[in-house]
Amino acid sequence: KKSYKITLLPGDGIGPEVVSVAKDVLLLTGSLHGIKFEFQEKLLGGAAFDATGVPLPDDTLSFAKQSDAILLGAIGGYKWDKNEKHLKPETGLLQLREGLQVFANLRPATVFPQLVDASTLKREIAEGVDLMVVRELTGGIYFGKPRGFGTNEHGQEIGFNTEIYAAHEIDRIARVAFNIAQKRGGKLCSVDKANVLEASMLWRKRVTALAQEYPDVELSHMYVDNAAMQLIRYPKQFDTIVTNNIFGDILSDEASMITGSIGMLPSASLGDSGPGLFEPIHGSAPDIAGQDKANPFATVLSAAMLLKYGLGEAEAAERIESAVLETLNKGFRTADIYSAGTKLVGCKQLGEEILKSVESHVSAT
Ligand code: NAD
Ligand code: IPM
Ligand code: MN
Repeated sequence: KKSYKITLLPGDGIGPEVVSVAKDVLLLTGSLHGIKFEFQEKLLGGAAFDATGVPLPDDTLSFAKQSDAILLGAIGGYKWDKNEKHLKPETGLLQLREGLQVFANLRPATVFPQLVDASTLKREIAEGVDLMVVRELTGGIYFGKPRGFGTNEHGQEIGFNTEIYAAHEIDRIARVAFNIAQKRGGKLCSVDKANVLEASMLWRKRVTALAQEYPDVELSHMYVDNAAMQLIRYPKQFDTIVTNNIFGDILSDEASMITGSIGMLPSASLGDSGPGLFEPIHGSAPDIAGQDKANPFATVLSAAMLLKYGLGEAEAAERIESAVLETLNKGFRTADIYSAGTKLVGCKQLGEEILKSVESHVSAT
């Protein structure tokens, strides 16, 4: 029997609620596919700060590094918003991504047929959308130096950051994106701000140069402001999108609403070697935390990505994906994706229903 070590990082807010559901789903799926999981919970974010004084304890990073994959809920909350920068929950998450060197963040946005009516876009616009945002995750303005606070020549307080990319950082994320586009619809749209930003000018130059190694991929370029508009105008024009850290952050939240809710979008963060990090794209949702209202599908689908991309267990991953579709077919919805005629349930009950669907494995369409 195969056995994998999984680090669980529940984090803050709704994180523990959605990770608990995904853990049960992994356990049951594993038991049905001859896979054993050893789960170990570690601290990250505000929870880690409260317990240890730092948002990413050494023990969490070193344990995560020697496990086979990491499943993360979410971090952050009002309680820690005034922490000094290096003690913020968000800093812990960024240190984790950097520490694991997971530079490629895959954020698929798929409109499930059962959820077309939950989309804020018209049916004919949302129906059939299936795109992948490949977000650079360990560079750009999130990590660029110089950064900080200071005073300008007028004695004004200033805050400053640096958007910066080295050629090799662009090349490696572009290669990941070209490879994904090759396996998907064969179309890659690189999103930048090359009309204004030097970092984007280099981005466009490197991506364009690499394109000749991928003659079967149709490459296009788009400015990020237009891309934000095009995503809402006609999202079906997109297959694979590759973009920098901050544009990918924003465009993936935007893309999530096409699918019905930010509570639906999973992600996989991968590097050249070492374990992958798998997390929903949403945050800790402090406004609904502790109320059993969170949508766990994004985290359950992240667990499916963990199986597929992290462990190479494609069959088990597909079982989870069909269980998600089956649960939607049966009509179960959390409040964020509820529409008339469906069954409103909480996070826990939705988890129970997903488990039943995993068990029965009716192949869903
Ligand atoms: P958020 O994603 O937490 O919430 C935005 C809105 O979406 C809220 O109304 C929330 O209730 C709703 N929502 C999010 N996930 C949901 C789910 N699974 N089911 C139902 N509704 C859901 O973004 P925010 O409010 O801007 O940030 C809150 C905190 O989370 C901040 O501290 C932020 O830094 C942090 N954050 C963390 C991550 C992460 O851990 N990767 C990502 C984004 C934000
Ligand atoms: C995300 C979040 C994080 C990001 C924050 C919490 C650091 O918004 O995972 O999308 O900006 O990457
Ligand atoms: Mn985000």
